[in-house]
Amino acid sequence: MKKIIELLETELSAAFEKAGYDKKYARVTVSNRPDLCQYQCNGALAAAKEYHKAPIQMAGEVVELLAESGTFQEIAAQMPGFINMTVSHTFLADYINEMAASESFGCDISAKEETIVIDYGGANVAKPLHVGHLRPAVIGESIKRISRYLGYHVIGDAHLGDWGLPIGLIITELKKRQPDLPYFDESFEGEYPEEPPFGIADLEEIYPFASSYSKEHEDYKAEAQAATAELQAGRKGYLALWQHIVNVSVADLKKIYDKLNVDFDLWKKESDAQPYIPAMVQEMKDGGYAHIDEGALVVDVKEETDTKEIPPCMILKSNGATLYNTTDLATIVERRKLFDPKKIIYVVDKRQALYFEQVFRCARKTKIIGEDVDLIFVGFGTMNGKDGKPFKTRDGGVLRLEALLADVTEQVAQKMADREMGQAEREDAADKIALAAIKYGDLSNQAAKDYIFDVERFTSFEGNTGPYILYTIVRIKSLMNKLAAQGIHVAEDAPVLPADSKSQTDVMLSLSKWGETLEAAFAEQAPHKVCQFLYELSDAFNKFYHENKIVTNENERARESYIQLSRLAGRVLEAGIDLLGLSAPEKM
Ligand code: ARG
Repeated sequence: MKKIIELLETELSAAFEKAGYDKKYARVTVSNRPDLCQYQCNGALAAAKEYHKAPIQMAGEVVELLAESGTFQEIAAQMPGFINMTVSHTFLADYINEMAASESFGCDISAKEETIVIDYGGANVAKPLHVGHLRPAVIGESIKRISRYLGYHVIGDAHLGDWGLPIGLIITELKKRQPDLPYFDESFEGEYPEEPPFGIADLEEIYPFASSYSKEHEDYKAEAQAATAELQAGRKGYLALWQHIVNVSVADLKKIYDKLNVDFDLWKKESDAQPYIPAMVQEMKDGGYAHIDEGALVVDVKEETDTKEIPPCMILKSNGATLYNTTDLATIVERRKLFDPKKIIYVVDKRQALYFEQVFRCARKTKIIGEDVDLIFVGFGTMNGKDGKPFKTRDGGVLRLEALLADVTEQVAQKMADREMGQAEREDAADKIALAAIKYGDLSNQAAKDYIFDVERFTSFEGNTGPYILYTIVRIKSLMNKLAAQGIHVAEDAPVLPADSKSQTDVMLSLSKWGETLEAAFAEQAPHKVCQFLYELSDAFNKFYHENKIVTNENERARESYIQLSRLAGRVLEAGIDLLGLSAPEKM
């Protein structure tokens, strides 16, 4: 289905040509003066240079040709040469009815050939998710859902951190505590136990302990480094322990991501990319891209146009060890081989921007990836506390994501204590509202910007918040239930009639932006655009709801039309929150 802007452009193009002007000047945008008109075209101003005529005269000629068109309620030339347009009620209602008849509300969701890999979440094994993991999970999940909705073949990959020093630290500490475990016995020939020698709670205690202990004890740290190297070199007992760590961690991570309504198609790990490293390094050497610098193997990635210093990309340390970026480069090789993606999108803290710039440049320079593949870094800003500093617990510690979720859910439950609801229903509602508060509070900001985590504001049922959007959906649901209870049935395909009030027009205009919103959100990896759309639509709907009699309207045709419009708004809002990874309760 064409967008309203496109339909208007088609009409204007014809008129521009008929008047003797190039149709390239017929570009239409949403009006930046909604008090004057809905859409505008500024083309006559630009055309003045080419045709040496007064813009207002050209605008007048074009308007003249469209005066009889049924598309417009009003079309006028405005000084110095704008064309202001307001579409007719019939045109808008027809458009809305066409949207309502389409499963995707007129948005192009046809299957696309392109595969997109999204690398998000940023989790590491043996470390619990903390508030710093909220943004990559929530933003990545939404980008994935938007892309998938639009018909792209999308693979969401957790790309777990599982191959570095943390594993060596856990091995070292475990050996100190339980030296008799078979994993440490190099002469052990049997099968290692299937049951892990630790649970997630143990791991979560062992890792931070070992990590801080190593900072004060050099030999302990050296031992952990050696254990890491031995693991990476394939020592059997250590590999078995590592496998336990991965299994225990992944099971736990899945539980939490599940609560966040975040799910990965793939649980690939840094370790999975390791087999690709030797050949990759060889090719970098053979191609003459890599050279030795103070013993290390590096690829220069600076470019003449750089305004700041971009350091070389180090591939191997002087002792032959690989680095974070060696793994990321090998992961590109792996993804290309397994999925042949057209795009790889990384949703990672923006403090890693320079790092990814190096990796991307290195990948291109060394021909690991062709120019036809887009490598996209979506860097997100920091989630700050009300003091403007990175979000911390009251005593200054790192807050676990699970604790944050429980905390916000508790606050929402308290707010709802006076609602008449069953226990299970209340809990379900509190879960969904809390999630909406947290996720929408995050997603409604441009990803790259820092934002302040303000629980009071985020959980408010009013204003630009997740709960407000859910509230609007619940309102529509209960409207529908009320109708059903009164035996009022409106056919699925009953038409929405031309608007008879501004509030209806506003709902329709908001609805009509669905397709262009999703396309822009996809193209710019910008879920906040979906939030903006949902907020605008909710606001328009609530105004309409307050200003019009719906269930009790005496005019049956008007009642049916209002019900249809409400139903469509509800359907679109629900589709929209699903793209944010949210769902609405039945009551709230
Ligand atoms: N696990 C990493 C960290 O804790 C983030 C991974 C981001 N993705 C990537 N392909 N490097 O910083």
